[in-house]
Amino acid sequence: MRPSCSANARNERWTNDLDVGELVMENAQRTPAFQNLRIGLLIVSQITPKLFDMIVGQSALSRNGYHSLDHWVRVLANGRRLAPVTGANLNVVELFSAFHDSRRINEGRDPEHGVRGAQFAVEMRGLWFEATNREMELLRYACEHHSNGLTEADVTVQTCWDADRLDLGRVGTTPRAEFLCTGAAKQPEMMRWANDRAVSSQTY
Ligand SMILES: [Fe+2]
Ligand SMILES: [Fe+2]
Repeated sequence: MRPSCSANARNERWTNDLDVGELVMENAQRTPAFQNLRIGLLIVSQITPKLFDMIVGQSALSRNGYHSLDHWVRVLANGRRLAPVTGANLNVVELFSAFHDSRRINEGRDPEHGVRGAQFAVEMRGLWFEATNREMELLRYACEHHSNGLTEADVTVQTCWDADRLDLGRVGTTPRAEFLCTGAAKQPEMMRWANDRAVSSQTY
């Protein structure tokens, strides 16, 4: 069943979002980082715990999987750290974190998962988030090609890919600078910071 909410429900959702005290969060969403993230969200971001919950709810993967919620939260953190340096569109980078692996059907080989994730984002636009046509164009491209090993693209797309690749330590692969796209991601401090979080499964 396609998850959705009406315009009224969406307005109500945003209103409810303002009341942090009533927020019900589970597991990773209880971490300090997600709460900090949430405070940021109240100001500038459309990435809410409810959006992550909705996406986790439709995912074929376990929420604790290599390509599930914990990974998405770290990709979000990586992207937020990179975007001010690269000049990427932060709305696209944040949406990418939530949707790029949202339609994986397994934890192994699934070459079409990026295309499905992009399509899911298209379906959720206007229901769970807003984006301009240009932002959707970038988001779709970033999702569709994120696992193809490309490094050349619009800087917003590159920032999305780097945010994802910097989390490879979670599966035992140390990111290498030659496979990253932006100078910001290739900075040793950035690579170390992201990899330390990946290998220790940090979501805060
Ligand atoms: Fe992926
Ligand atoms: Fe990913």
